[in-house]
Amino acid sequence: MRLTDHEQAMYDGEHGVARQKAMDLLVRYGNALGAERLVDTRNVAGTIGATTPFMRKYADEAGGLDAVFSEFNLDSREVVRIPKVSVYSSHLQQGIDPEHASEQGVGEDVVRIFRKGDAYSAGLGVQLLNTCAPYQVGNLPARGEHCAWMESSAVIYINAVLGAKSNAEGRESTGAAMLTGKIPYWGYHIDENRRGTHAVEVDVPIESMSDWGMLGYFVGDHVQDRVPVITGIGQAPNMVRLKHFGAAAASSGGVEMYHIPGYTPEAPTVAAAFGGNRPIERFVFGRKELRETYENLNATASDVDVDFVMLGCPHYSIEQIWEVCQLLEGRKVHVNSNLWIFTPRATKQICDQNGYTRIITEAGGFLMSDTCSALGRVMPKGVKVAAVDSAKQVHYLPAIMGIQAWFGSTADCIDAAVTGRWNGGLR
Ligand code: F3S
Repeated sequence: MRLTDHEQAMYDGEHGVARQKAMDLLVRYGNALGAERLVDTRNVAGTIGATTPFMRKYADEAGGLDAVFSEFNLDSREVVRIPKVSVYSSHLQQGIDPEHASEQGVGEDVVRIFRKGDAYSAGLGVQLLNTCAPYQVGNLPARGEHCAWMESSAVIYINAVLGAKSNAEGRESTGAAMLTGKIPYWGYHIDENRRGTHAVEVDVPIESMSDWGMLGYFVGDHVQDRVPVITGIGQAPNMVRLKHFGAAAASSGGVEMYHIPGYTPEAPTVAAAFGGNRPIERFVFGRKELRETYENLNATASDVDVDFVMLGCPHYSIEQIWEVCQLLEGRKVHVNSNLWIFTPRATKQICDQNGYTRIITEAGGFLMSDTCSALGRVMPKGVKVAAVDSAKQVHYLPAIMGIQAWFGSTADCIDAAVTGRWNGGLR
């Protein structure tokens, strides 16, 4: 790999041991990928920390959380002092919501360790956005900006919708990028890899958020990790719909980039979306495929008694919470059910101001932040049957938690929370 003078100096240790370790990691990683060079990034989104047993082990010892960063972000068994980050860095979602520890069955000791981790990250200069959707709360990369982001649902959003450039990075590469402002130049940093490879023609009205989730799930399943070009979209999608489309496509496949000609920034036309590529395969998404996808997403569920409704995967926007409040205001969550809604911490503060938290709480639900049920493995005790409005969450939650889960619209989910029964269906 070719290094610039500045990169070589970091590699040689002239900017401290931690940056030397970071450069060593990036060079090893880049060589494994076949990257010929690194690229500058001024925007990193990653995670710092480890599972609770490791955090507990290191949080109170000499070296403290530098030991965790060394091992889990820099792949170094030697504990090195970690300097402040070099570039704008955001923290992604975490394992718990410390404000709802008891509901999540989390003890005080874990909360204490979590808060120590937060303070450590903040001390390094990392923004504690603590969400899988940083683009909803202020980290909005510009078109063409090279980024180093983890979290598949966020990476596909900034690539396809914003025209920024990132691969789905890992904890190690984002940690190293925070310290160096460098990431290997490969994959979706390179323009020719961003061109369409597969054609998907939509032949059924796609309007609601759950429609977009189902389309995304179908597309990911069919194109896996390639670049689909989706045509036949009648109504302009908004941020929420594109968020759910991308999260689903990145879950059923490994899609990190797509085009919707006329709507996404690198595809003013179908020809521009393919950039001279001939489509490898063509798929049609019609009424039959919509129904099959719906049934596929509901394959784990048979019991209509719903004891848990989880919303906010990816973390809900303020617009989505406003919609939920319109559906929920004046109603009560059923005595046999639970309603948990996840949103970024910053959005939660706006909800507090707007009275949305009060509406949800008065109904018997909870507005939570920082984590989610699938990632944090947090649910009310004894849950057997969940309902969700996210194709991504229904892909993971039953498998991770060993429960049944229904997928449907947000309105179907709120209805399930209030009645304790699933009455949803494909409409
Ligand atoms: Fe976010 Fe959890 Fe979904 S971290 S994208 S809400 S699986």
